[in-house]
Amino acid sequence: MRFFIAKSLTSFFRFFADTFFAKRYGHRAVVLETIAGVPGIVAGMLLHMKSLRKMKTGYGPEIREMLAEAENERMHLMFFIEIAQPNLLERYLVLIAQFFFMAFYFVLYVLDYKTAHKMVALFEEEAVKSYTDYLALVERGHVENVPAPKLAIDYYGMGTGARLSDLIIRVRADEQHHSEVNHSYAAFSSPRPKPKKIRLGAGEPEGLR
Ligand SMILES: [Fe+2]
Ligand SMILES: [Fe+2]
Repeated sequence: MRFFIAKSLTSFFRFFADTFFAKRYGHRAVVLETIAGVPGIVAGMLLHMKSLRKMKTGYGPEIREMLAEAENERMHLMFFIEIAQPNLLERYLVLIAQFFFMAFYFVLYVLDYKTAHKMVALFEEEAVKSYTDYLALVERGHVENVPAPKLAIDYYGMGTGARLSDLIIRVRADEQHHSEVNHSYAAFSSPRPKPKKIRLGAGEPEGLR
């Protein structure tokens, strides 16, 4: 059932993306990365709040993973904004999409976090496919293989001669990682690996919990 809901939502959003952007992959990347940065920060915040509410440790690794995902997606946006400039319509679309998608994801996560993670995992699979298509266009010469932005070269530690195709390969690997993480979070049999009650002075330092 969860998979069905997550899959339906993914197909629904994919349909809009395909209709709106068609083969304009640079623009597609810019707009969709603004959306991709939402689930991680929402999930990270909600897990953080849950840890505060329950006064339990054990959430640290997941909180950090989710916040890292959001940060990584934000960086993807910064790379592609140098490749393709969104038009005015797309900027408004981002504004509206952020408002609705953030609210939607928040509610979904509160209602059933497993479906939420499943949906993101499937989104990420779609992102992998889209970046594969984008890469094919670049490799076939339909899209100019421009030099990669300096920001991306520094972020990934690529050589100075790195091109758009190298960037797409790195970004696609990130999306694959997000997909695997979210699939695994959606598959937990119990909500979290048994959080422990906080006992001052016991166990590992707070930073590791
Ligand atoms: Fe991304
Ligand atoms: Fe992603």
